[in-house]
Amino acid sequence: MNKRKVNFALVGLSEMGMRHAFSIKNSMKMELVAVCDKLEDRVSEAVNTLDVKTGTTDWRELLSNDDIEAVVLCIPDQVHVEMTVAFLEAGKDVLCEKPMALSVEECEEMRAAEKRTGKRLMIGQICRYTPSFIKTRELIEQGEIGELYYVESEYAHDYSLASEGVDRWRLDPKREPFIGGGCHAMDLLRWIAGNPYEVCAFANHKCLTDWPVNDCIISIFKFPNNVIGKVFVSIGCKRNGTMRSVFYGTKGTIICDNNSNYLSVFKEPLAGKDSIFPDKHISQTTPINLAIPINHHNTTYELESFADCIINDTPVPTTSYDGECTVVACVAATQASKIGQTLEIAYPEE
Ligand SMILES: NC(=O)c1ccc[n+]([C@@H]2O[C@H](COP(=O)([O-])OP(=O)(O)OC[C@H]3O[C@@H](n4cnc5c(N)ncnc54)[C@H](O)[C@@H]3O)[C@@H](O)[C@H]2O)c1
Repeated sequence: MNKRKVNFALVGLSEMGMRHAFSIKNSMKMELVAVCDKLEDRVSEAVNTLDVKTGTTDWRELLSNDDIEAVVLCIPDQVHVEMTVAFLEAGKDVLCEKPMALSVEECEEMRAAEKRTGKRLMIGQICRYTPSFIKTRELIEQGEIGELYYVESEYAHDYSLASEGVDRWRLDPKREPFIGGGCHAMDLLRWIAGNPYEVCAFANHKCLTDWPVNDCIISIFKFPNNVIGKVFVSIGCKRNGTMRSVFYGTKGTIICDNNSNYLSVFKEPLAGKDSIFPDKHISQTTPINLAIPINHHNTTYELESFADCIINDTPVPTTSYDGECTVVACVAATQASKIGQTLEIAYPEE
């Protein structure tokens, strides 16, 4: 097995950026060789704390740095396209935070650069690295709850408490909540139920009234195999952050949340021993609560998966195509909420 380390640069030194930084620092597979932020004090603090060779406020300086093999971009959504394309063109592999971009056109530009350069582009759809969601998907794939017929997920976060972002970038009207935050819930449902092909949606604006966009959207989708589903997004809710998600199958139901240390499984009782819970009493009315570690921002698993692909020359697990399809579905839901009509969702060629 190849034991070498991948040399990384990190652009964007916010709380989330520093989470990426520590994941790289603490890994046997990665080395952090450069950090960048447009804010000088963030750069000097990171250089000191992380003991990194290079720190800069100008991300373009990193393009010609031959020490750097791969770059993590933890910068505002609006800048994803420009930096991703430039780093790919400079011969670096790129892990770009979610959402891939704020429009389908920008996603297309990023994918074209990936194809042109032959470098890797991975999108940080973190739910695919979250223990409760990984376990849920595994149980569904094993057929533990029969055939899916209804799926739902929500992204409810009080943005009045959270960061508006440096220079208040989250208040850009282009940063629709369904794309910026709801992409988590949408991507989770796509990962488990496939690409939805039809959507209708409603929205209102009653909580963050000084924000330029609707702050609550509910959307209903048709998925393949006659599965129906719902995504609910609220960025003004008065509660703790949640991504509660429920998967209903013909033989059972799973309730999970990235903020919960267990997931609940309801199942029809089987004759004889249960396949996955042989020691447990399980029924369709009393759930088994499976213990699950809470790790809603599992950047270590995400980054190590990316590094493994670079080391072993294999494709990335959360591809740019997936990133774009999630944006396509989110844009369609937002548009449906604005025009009050059901829309068909058309996906790009892979
Ligand atoms: N995976 C998740 O769950 C998750 C959570 C939070 C944020 N995000 C995503 O991460 C990204 C960053 O979000 P955030 O909350 O950290 O935002 P933030 O505003 O808190 O931090 C962004 C950082 O990027 C820096 N920056 C901005 N423009 C720059 C430029 N041109 N050059 C260098 N540095 C620049 C800012 O100074 C700031 O330090 C966004 O895409 C966001 O959607 C993902």
